[in-house]
Amino acid sequence: MHAALTILTDELRRLKAQGVKNVSISPDSVATLRRVVQARKGTQPAAAPAAEPASAGRLAVTAVREPAPAAKAESAPAPEPKLPPPPPFTLPEGTKEERMAALRTIVLNDPECAKHVRPGKKIVVGVGTLDAKIMFVGEAPGAEEEVQGEPFVGPAGQLLTKMIQGMGLKREGVYIGNIMNWRPELPVGAGGVQYGNRAPTVEEMSYCLPYLRAQLAIVNPDVIVALGATAAQGLLGFGTFKTLGEVRGRWKDFEGKPLMVTYHPSYILREPTNKKKRMIWEDLLMVMERAGLPVSEKQRGYFLDK
Ligand code: URA
Repeated sequence: MHAALTILTDELRRLKAQGVKNVSISPDSVATLRRVVQARKGTQPAAAPAAEPASAGRLAVTAVREPAPAAKAESAPAPEPKLPPPPPFTLPEGTKEERMAALRTIVLNDPECAKHVRPGKKIVVGVGTLDAKIMFVGEAPGAEEEVQGEPFVGPAGQLLTKMIQGMGLKREGVYIGNIMNWRPELPVGAGGVQYGNRAPTVEEMSYCLPYLRAQLAIVNPDVIVALGATAAQGLLGFGTFKTLGEVRGRWKDFEGKPLMVTYHPSYILREPTNKKKRMIWEDLLMVMERAGLPVSEKQRGYFLDK
């Protein structure tokens, strides 16, 4: 119960940080919240629900646009599109550059990806050096990313860039990709504007994952960093953990490569305390060591002040 509430609170904070002012909450979640509130007031024991929905804090909460009179009709849960299986593709032999160029062409011309991108917006493929020692993997493009066609260029991306610089690297010196190649859709407001983001469904992630795997195979980094639960689920396998805390800050394996799971930068945007920054920083210190990067005493001491 407590874990579900934490996940739900987390998701609400995430949406708030993204400017979402209204959410529609499923009847299941409302019932769960009622039980918790009543238990806290001591009016009724907190009976556990028959089965805690795995999605308690995530997909059950749907961001809706604001302001709202007209939006009310649009606040139904996000549609879960039926997707075909990921299309098989073969990359040509050749240099990394040739193979990545071929992959980009395939992704940018994928009709299914194009179908999910709104008019004027872009499909997003990873960026960075193909010789990167470190590859960061995020969740999905957001508002800024689908405009620019580049991952991590919005507020979370600016923080990621600072984190990379803190490691003594340049953004161009690593590779940055996402599980998803399009921004997961929500109902739009007037003028076709989408407010807020949602986490991708397993079906959506499964569709895009072969493209991320191909990028990983081409770049062949020494170390992979999964940013947040969605990236970790995509790389480690759906259902391999219940809470990010189970896997964060630990070395995992992705097809023989060391994989560090850490928080998504948007988590730090929501809770910009030194304590949280230090947690993510400690994960990145381990990544630096594993990638053979020099670590100065100054870097070791970042965010130690509570
Ligand atoms: N968050 C992500 O996970 N990826 C992006 O590209 C931007 C924000």
